Amino acid sequence: MVTEQAVRERLKTVMDPELGRSVVELQMVDRIEVVGDRVRVAVKLTVSHCPLQARLKDDVTRALASLAGVGAVEVELGVMTPEEREQLARRLRGRPEAGRSGVTRPDSPVRVLIVASGKGGVGKSTVTVNLAAALAGLGQRVGVLDADIYGFSVPRMLGLHGNPTVLGEGIILPMDSSGLRVISMGSFVGEDTPVIWRGPMLAKALDQFLEDVAWGDIGYLLIDSPPGTGDVALSLSQRLPRARILLVTTPQAAAARVAGRVAQMAERTGQRLVGVVENMAFYECPDCGHRTEIFGQGGAEELARSAGSEVIGRLPLEPQLSVDSDAGTPIVRAQPLSRTAKHFRDLADAVVASAAWTDKAAAQAAP
Ligand SMILES: Nc1ncnc2c1ncn2[C@@H]1O[C@H](COP(=O)(O)OP(=O)(O)OP(=O)(O)O)[C@@H](O)[C@H]1O
Ligand SMILES: [Mg+2]
Repeated sequence: MVTEQAVRERLKTVMDPELGRSVVELQMVDRIEVVGDRVRVAVKLTVSHCPLQARLKDDVTRALASLAGVGAVEVELGVMTPEEREQLARRLRGRPEAGRSGVTRPDSPVRVLIVASGKGGVGKSTVTVNLAAALAGLGQRVGVLDADIYGFSVPRMLGLHGNPTVLGEGIILPMDSSGLRVISMGSFVGEDTPVIWRGPMLAKALDQFLEDVAWGDIGYLLIDSPPGTGDVALSLSQRLPRARILLVTTPQAAAARVAGRVAQMAERTGQRLVGVVENMAFYECPDCGHRTEIFGQGGAEELARSAGSEVIGRLPLEPQLSVDSDAGTPIVRAQPLSRTAKHFRDLADAVVASAAWTDKAAAQAAP
């Protein structure tokens, strides 16, 4: 005979995908009814357009169906009232670790990777979204933080529309793009609105993205940064001393040299490099795979050597990359069988396997 108590106990194993805590603890379970071997539960979502509701429904059904004596499961989804949402936010605030992933904490298990470059336009954002999609393809839970506050491009590249849910003051739910959890200034202000802020405002926005976003149970947080060693790079290095850096460059020696300054800054702040990615490294014939190194070669290797790191990825010049980005679907998702998608998957493998995660500081943090 199934009891309400047994159902409640089992529901403690079901995590809210956005908040990373059990639905029981979050008081999202509204009602439990047991009639014979039939179980009916009502679960309240934070907002009606909660993009992960199908997953939550699935998780609840699966958890209860495997309970001994249960013949049928019915899950009814409801929506919290604004008061209930505010209460939830208050509860989460009371226990900072509850809703927030605490990515800035020294003991956080999240692997934080800052995608950086010396020069603009070398492909940081393109690499960020495709690498995120490739990591998700490996079964990782991935967050994407667009730290390019003025020049955001992540929402467009990931096909995101609308605004993130702000759950009372101090808790922001990231947006969902096919399983990636994403936060960007662009989702707050809209694509065509210029952000005209001074340094302190910018640092405040970054802090909120790091501290107030309920990243949930992510394993990786990818941060797309603006080019160079400006305010944002400095703020990030102060807030996230245990983050690793992925340096993106194009083959031209000049671009690589500028990227070297980023590497030097990382060294001074104690952040380690996961490696260097050479973007637009070659053109690959779609028929025979023959490679032509249009922009020359050697710059990325030289940069990696001087930074005590290595080149862990080389990506082709591929016009389709731009087309898919503009259409809101990274090529890794849009054309998973393409050679270019394969290059990104190789890069994801290299990132996961990087020894930079398992040095002294990261040893206890690595999953
Ligand atoms: N490998 C590639 N092949 C072809 N086009 C590419 C490639 N990588 C990036 N691009 C294109 O180059 C442009 C710049 O790329 P992206 O926006 O990713 O660079 P960025 O470094 O993030 O720029 P910014 O410094 O302005 O943020 C985009 O139009 C993008 O689609
Ligand atoms: Mg960019």
